[in-house]
Amino acid sequence: MEKNKEIVLSGIRPTGFLHLGNYFGALKNWARMQNEYECYFFIADWHSLTTHADTSGLKSMTRSLVSELIAGGLDPDKCTIYAQSDIPEIPELYLYLNMLAYKGELEKTVTFKDKVRQQPENINAGLLTYPVLQAADILIHRAHYVPVGKDQEQHIEMTRNFAERFNHRYGEIFPVPKAFSYSEDLVKILSLDGSGKMSKSEQQMNTIYLNDDDVLITKKIMKAKTDQGPVLANSKKPEYIQGLFTLLGLVSSHEILKKFEYDFNHCQIRYGDMKKQLAEDMIRFIKPIRERAAALQSDPVQIDKILTKGAEKARKSATATLLEVRKALGFRYL
Ligand code: TRP
Repeated sequence: MEKNKEIVLSGIRPTGFLHLGNYFGALKNWARMQNEYECYFFIADWHSLTTHADTSGLKSMTRSLVSELIAGGLDPDKCTIYAQSDIPEIPELYLYLNMLAYKGELEKTVTFKDKVRQQPENINAGLLTYPVLQAADILIHRAHYVPVGKDQEQHIEMTRNFAERFNHRYGEIFPVPKAFSYSEDLVKILSLDGSGKMSKSEQQMNTIYLNDDDVLITKKIMKAKTDQGPVLANSKKPEYIQGLFTLLGLVSSHEILKKFEYDFNHCQIRYGDMKKQLAEDMIRFIKPIRERAAALQSDPVQIDKILTKGAEKARKSATATLLEVRKALGFRYL
């Protein structure tokens, strides 16, 4: 029955706990897609080596991410959840794709140039070929759609190029994958001080994580940046205020959102009250996710089972692709 469903794949690096941006920007989307497509979602632990050489926290981070993904809506019976490093077929495909990737295009990649600026002391070759490994992640399952944020679109474009080059040289093996999101879910979750997006590893007090406790959620929201309030009716909201309204729109009722919109537009808003309300509704939203994740975390056998089953399913698909790839390339001497 699954045979004719289109294939969806996405991954997340185990470099920090999940926050609201990950939830509303990715996870919610994934959870919806698992009902309509054959989905593969994985922890990109090899990719994290390009920036985080210290692997001591990798195991616990990977396992807590799996718990959070499931607590946030992924169902291991509906989709395949696995760790990238459990799939040895990926690096073999990465090797073949590396021969089709040019130094010039890799050096021009925006994420590579950013990393060169951020970590000039560690510009390793893995960083340069990061998009090739990502292409291998995607193509190993012959995925059709890759739900990712804007910052990843260039990598998907590169994957498309590598797939086309391979198909052109060796035969049509790969569908050419597309970046995809349900557009109505593409909300931008701003950091609580309004300076850019919420981030996994930076600015922890301005980011709300799915594992923050009630007290911490309240504390973060109450100290979020606001101001005196508007003096002109129907003013445009500053970014940091819009960020709070966006959150209210996601976790509070429609009536509450309307009330504070009205107060803002009539210059009578009390941000203290609005933040109290937001904190209350945010706690109601996060608490069950946090508790489900904690319950799973305390059941290591269950996490083992999920990762084992995920790896088995993922390897089955990966092996089938690699066999076709080896045939196409001519690496079959027996
Ligand atoms: N590069 C992605 C990120 O930083 C993670 C990732 C690795 C990925 N491989 C992937 C995403 C394959 C989608 C498909 O967010």
